[in-house]
Amino acid sequence: MSVTAVSTPNIALIKYWGNRNNDLRLPMADSLSITLNQPTVQIIVDRAERFTARTFEPDGTERTLTEKERARLEKHFTLTKTYLDVLGLAKAFPGSVSLEIRSKIPRAIGIASSAAIFSCLAKAYAGLVGENRSFTMQEKSVIGRLGSGSAARSLAGGFVALHAGTGNDIDSAAAEQIADENHWNLFDVIIIPSAEEKKVGSTEGHTLAHTSPLFSKRIDTIPRRQQECIDAILKKDFEKLQHVTEEDALDMHNVMQTQTPPLKYLSNETYRMMEEVEELRDTEHLEVLYTMDAGPTVHLICTEAALPKIRAYAKEQKGCTLFEAGVGNGSHLLD
Ligand code: DP6
Repeated sequence: MSVTAVSTPNIALIKYWGNRNNDLRLPMADSLSITLNQPTVQIIVDRAERFTARTFEPDGTERTLTEKERARLEKHFTLTKTYLDVLGLAKAFPGSVSLEIRSKIPRAIGIASSAAIFSCLAKAYAGLVGENRSFTMQEKSVIGRLGSGSAARSLAGGFVALHAGTGNDIDSAAAEQIADENHWNLFDVIIIPSAEEKKVGSTEGHTLAHTSPLFSKRIDTIPRRQQECIDAILKKDFEKLQHVTEEDALDMHNVMQTQTPPLKYLSNETYRMMEEVEELRDTEHLEVLYTMDAGPTVHLICTEAALPKIRAYAKEQKGCTLFEAGVGNGSHLLD
């Protein structure tokens, strides 16, 4: 019997950048994110003779996967088997699977589709074995992490930490929910200045993070920031959240920009919006913060009270694609 799972992207407040083990996607440092409630990815997994994967665009048309994408999905399947073997569950998992991936994430919005896809797959794979044994959130997050580091965080809803852990064991880094989706009603207003596909993706970027002279300082600073971020979330202290989140996003981009070769993801448009949002925040006393991942897209995270003004600001941006999300409840199975 097939299993269908649904998942969503997340937006990092404390960013994951750099691995201690690239193959197993074991991060160098902790990270923390908000799971978004949309856009969704739905995946149907079924037992099969050989590994196949089909993917469908938001408009329902089939898109042929690139060889690189197909290989990544298959490698994730193989790593999942390795992990299930560690758990003593390899026999309950099929020799191969067929995947049908239906993404509602428009390619142009380019927000962390790998996090949504691999968290969705993790939920579905756990569901396939689940007739025999149920999985903890931590275990499912490990399966997600094996496909995309940030995917570990989308298995749970609300506010989720990925603990880096230590060592090289496959399950040495796992996610933990800090607060659920009903804890704090925040929004992410997403402004996408460019629909251009990024030239260097996160996977390659992570492997070269250590070439930045700023990287080791970043790694030393993250435990302090992670704790501040957790405290801010638990206390719903927006100002504290804003300071630590913006500090961390800018620090990650400084690392990226000083790697060899340098990764310059932020555009002039991004910098302009950051300045304008700072001004808007000061003059209008709005609870809003900005953060950017591996691209020029600006995420404006705000409270419900600030949302109408932030939405209006986003609508003023010419030539940009807009998207809006609230806090989501993480990956789940469909009957
Ligand atoms: C900048 O999880 O996308 O978005 O494991 O190669 O898929 P892969 O990397 P990925 O890296 C995320 C980088 C980031 C920051 C974050 O989401 O924490």
